[in-house]
Amino acid sequence: MSTEPFGVAIVGCGNIAARYAEDLRRYPHLVLRGVTDLDPARSHAMATDVGCRTYLDSDALLADPEVAVVVNLTSHRAHGPVTRAALEAGKHVFSEKPMALRAAEARFLNTAATARNLRLGAAPIVLLGELAQTAWRMVRNGGLGTVRLAYADVNWGRMERWHAAPQPFYDAGPLFDVGVYPLTLLTGILGPAVRVTASATTLLAQRSTREGQWFNVESPDFVVAVVELADGTLVRLTTNFYVHDPARQCGVELHGDEGSLWLSTWFTFGGRLEHSPSGEPYRDVPLIRTPQVMLPWAAGVEELARVAIEGGVHLTSGAHAAHVVEIIEAALSSARGGTPVQIQSRFPRPQPLAWAA
Ligand SMILES: NC(=O)c1ccc[n+]([C@@H]2O[C@H](COP(=O)([O-])OP(=O)(O)OC[C@H]3O[C@@H](n4cnc5c(N)ncnc54)[C@H](O)[C@@H]3O)[C@@H](O)[C@H]2O)c1
Repeated sequence: MSTEPFGVAIVGCGNIAARYAEDLRRYPHLVLRGVTDLDPARSHAMATDVGCRTYLDSDALLADPEVAVVVNLTSHRAHGPVTRAALEAGKHVFSEKPMALRAAEARFLNTAATARNLRLGAAPIVLLGELAQTAWRMVRNGGLGTVRLAYADVNWGRMERWHAAPQPFYDAGPLFDVGVYPLTLLTGILGPAVRVTASATTLLAQRSTREGQWFNVESPDFVVAVVELADGTLVRLTTNFYVHDPARQCGVELHGDEGSLWLSTWFTFGGRLEHSPSGEPYRDVPLIRTPQVMLPWAAGVEELARVAIEGGVHLTSGAHAAHVVEIIEAALSSARGGTPVQIQSRFPRPQPLAWAA
């Protein structure tokens, strides 16, 4: 990578931002220029903690020519508008998930990035990790035979117990907030979705913040979706903000004609991987290499900056993120309408990382 430092700036200084700032320090060619937030007290506190400047607002941040990449860590509803403004200002963007809350908006963002020759990437970054890469290699190498079925369980507990501002998570719902992880993992490994049928309900409609403020859950807090992939694989995905993690049903299972594979998590770079050849007992599979960090928050920003400078394939691409947004929108529409919904978008298939190829 070039020795010129690549300027990064963060929009949104909430719960997750300090973890990004800390992880950015691991990449010598990325320099955190500054941060901003709608709440200036937050951006000042963070800038003081991490030793960077604070911008008065997003406009001031976008006007800084030393900022090449904007990292969008705002709340779910702000992701689309903040990313759009950054692209229009000529910045590369890495966005937290979901990239947008509407498929049309996600498509628009990709078109805007392509038109300006900018890179657009989005979390989740799970495919960059050792657990996902090892599982992916086993599937590619035929270790399971033809894969026809996958199960993914997302029991994410009750956000209000630990997050200071849980409402935006409940507005988005568990499929948008955390279903994105296994959907990204499975469509990355197995290919795009073509149809989804879903059912959704609200299990616990009234929640209370840590300060004791009651609020109503706006989106279903339980969604189960059957996603049909173009290669014929069926994915059964269950997401909720009710059952605590760890739950008995967790992680991701892939089932093929000649075996099954279990990933203990769809979230972190490390985790347990177990293989059962043709119905035999499950055995541990060693990961191709040991992850240095279980969850390197800024690894997607590093990847985005690297491909922006050097060119090449982009594993956490905006096109893949937009496909996942379309699956989720279609699942919620199916749950409302009671019928299957087709998925139209496609994305360039991600390639495995060199160390796992
Ligand atoms: N909290 C987690 O464990 C976690 C994990 C992975 C991903 N994420 C994702 O990261 C994002 C941020 O999560 P969080 O937990 O830090 O949320 P948070 O609510 O703690 O922080 C969001 C911050 O964004 C600011 N903001 C909102 N709109 C803005 C705008 N238009 N311009 C500038 N600032 C704006 C808010 O004032 C707030 O400080 C979410 O979308 C979430 O999906 C969170």
